[in-house]
Amino acid sequence: MRYKIDGITIRSENAAKPCNQKSQRVDSYLCTLSAETLLDFGCGKLRYSDTLVKISPRVTFLDSLVQINREQLIRGERTTVANYIRQNYPNCQTVSYEDVKQHALKYDLITCTNVLSAIPCEKTLHDVISHICRLLKSNGVAVFVNQHRSSYFKRYKSGSRRLFGHIHKGARGYSYYGIVGQNEIEELLKNTGFRVLRSWRAGESTFTEATHA
Ligand SMILES: C[S@@+](CC[C@H](N)C(=O)[O-])C[C@H]1O[C@@H](n2cnc3c(N)ncnc32)[C@H](O)[C@@H]1O
Repeated sequence: MRYKIDGITIRSENAAKPCNQKSQRVDSYLCTLSAETLLDFGCGKLRYSDTLVKISPRVTFLDSLVQINREQLIRGERTTVANYIRQNYPNCQTVSYEDVKQHALKYDLITCTNVLSAIPCEKTLHDVISHICRLLKSNGVAVFVNQHRSSYFKRYKSGSRRLFGHIHKGARGYSYYGIVGQNEIEELLKNTGFRVLRSWRAGESTFTEATHA
């Protein structure tokens, strides 16, 4: 997703990490879940897709049009996210954020891993959490994983302050990295129609499970 902030463009799609940079802690946690229908909101380069298709027979992968349709290295193959899913995961689909308003399926489980930290715009942050709430079944659970501390955050601190973090100018242009800690995520969720079920820290990550208020 591209964000235009004060005349600069932030290409948040570049924040996605490949599958060989999984967090073992996040992956092990995802393995403990199961659901008939699952939406992965902000799927990136499908870092956790092999785990998600093991825990649910029907997974929808959602990200921006540019992330879904650009050619890049996905799980060792030069392809697009959309093609990779079509060719490898039967009964799964992709949806773009640009089309999310028209998407009306409801999900038992929605995962959102390290996405909120890549959104430098308050309105979009609110819209994303509202869509997650709208797309969640009445008894469904949404899971948010955010890094509350990061070893490479020091680099960002040299940049200008924005929302939960900083904007940094690097070799590939501008990027944003925000630290969404336990208090910040709980506040965002409570203001957007969620009730927090459980929230805890492990390593550099905060895990938060929430359902409808
Ligand atoms: C740091 S990556 C995380 C990707 C993946 N969840 C993971 O853990 O590897 C952040 C992702 O959020 C996506 N993103 C940013 N804004 C978004 C939005 N408004 N809707 C959906 N995805 C968004 C970016 O395109 C990027 O793929």
